[in-house]
Amino acid sequence: MESLNYHLGLAKAVSFEPNTIYCGDCQDVLQRFPTESVDLIYADPPFFSNRRFEVLWGDGYELRSFEDRWKGGIQNYVAWMSPKLRECHRVLKETGSLYLHLDHHASHYIKIELDKIFGEGKFQNEIVWKRNIGSHSDTKQGATHFGRVHDVILYYSKGDKPTWHEQHEPYSQDYIDGFYKYTEKESGRRYRLGDLTGPGGKAKGNPHYEFLGVTRYWRYSKENMERLYKEGRIVQTRPGGVPAYKRYLDEMQGVPLSDVWDNVKPITKTKEDLGYPTQKPEKLLERIISTSSNPTDVVLDPFCGCGTALAVAQKLGRRWVGIDVSPTACKLMAKRLRSLRAKVGDPIGLPRSVPQLRELQPFEFQNWVFEKLHGRVNPRKTGDFGIDGWVELDVPVQVKQSSDVGRNVVDNFETAIQRAGKDRGVIVAFSFGSGAYEEAARAKNEMKLEIRLKTVEEILNES
Ligand SMILES: C[S@@+](CC[C@H](N)C(=O)[O-])C[C@H]1O[C@@H](n2cnc3c(N)ncnc32)[C@H](O)[C@@H]1O
Repeated sequence: MESLNYHLGLAKAVSFEPNTIYCGDCQDVLQRFPTESVDLIYADPPFFSNRRFEVLWGDGYELRSFEDRWKGGIQNYVAWMSPKLRECHRVLKETGSLYLHLDHHASHYIKIELDKIFGEGKFQNEIVWKRNIGSHSDTKQGATHFGRVHDVILYYSKGDKPTWHEQHEPYSQDYIDGFYKYTEKESGRRYRLGDLTGPGGKAKGNPHYEFLGVTRYWRYSKENMERLYKEGRIVQTRPGGVPAYKRYLDEMQGVPLSDVWDNVKPITKTKEDLGYPTQKPEKLLERIISTSSNPTDVVLDPFCGCGTALAVAQKLGRRWVGIDVSPTACKLMAKRLRSLRAKVGDPIGLPRSVPQLRELQPFEFQNWVFEKLHGRVNPRKTGDFGIDGWVELDVPVQVKQSSDVGRNVVDNFETAIQRAGKDRGVIVAFSFGSGAYEEAARAKNEMKLEIRLKTVEEILNES
């Protein structure tokens, strides 16, 4: 497959292959992408929902989370999103499209931004995805609003002729029963009757002749009518009745997809569920990617979470580029794509130095520590008195994302490991004060407790 040879780095040009995952803020990463290099963008940013999503990985080894809280209100959210959307617009090709996934909290504000960025006539649809298919909604007793059960996906095209492959849905049973009333005895095929007379009659130049005893302006030439009759495609329901065309149900594509999507189930406890909060169903992405891209096109997801858009792009034979600020998400999606036999290198931009590790969200830092130590995260947030996880099966570990950790931390940890019935433990931090080392030595001599003080630098050197 042809290399896209993107040029990364403002001063230094670095080429990269498609099928790459970037760990970082999407605005920063996108700024280094060339203009008009991407065919389709699906973006599913934090929604301005004022909630904090946090769940534990299925296997209990890592925490997955992403912040969705905006201090300072909607204007801050719009100011945060707007430059990212400008970058999305810049990197899209003229035939490209953007699908932006939001909900009622902010979609109306962001639509105004997108109208400004994409310009007149480029807004194509506001797709309503009914994400709660059952009875579940957000109404509580005393609520004064209808249940909010849908997300909004705003679809914009960059130019006037976006890539477009119409999608169809099967007809409803009511429609079939109402229109495809006839069943062919020999084959069991359902069909409806179609008009064979020529629309517009003489004025439209339709041929005029007699067929099966009926004289009319017809849609087809006499030869074609006779051929269709021989092929069994024309029926006369009663002698002297106007012949009609047999339109078989199994030859129809179905109804062109509308902007209300109420039959795509949300992620539930299925095989698809990776435990990533806000994970979107693959079927949703299949619709978007099949409609608005061609095989081998490049699909970009700048907020790719656990990589649903990338996984579907991979399955549909597209190339893809993913960006997420969360190292945990980036590693998870790399694993997901590898399971689909995609050739994926390590995500670019994962934190690899002390200053970068200091900047991580606390749960990301914990995940990093336990991944490096081949340990596992404690699923309980409270009640274990500072045991954040374990290494070597059951050796308790406490993680401090700080420097100069002192005597009192070690002292408290001694109590925690004794309560847990253990005689060994590890504390991880950027650095420890002399009091911490003294306390660890005292614990060893006087209490036979072995507490190891491990610095982040040591972990970095070991890996
Ligand atoms: C709604 S989730 C995306 C879920 C994804 N569609 C899926 O199916 O898994 C939003 C994602 O945006 C990421 N994110 C938040 N701020 C970001 C930023 N500035 N740059 C890139 N990614 C960001 C979060 O880490 C989170 O994974």
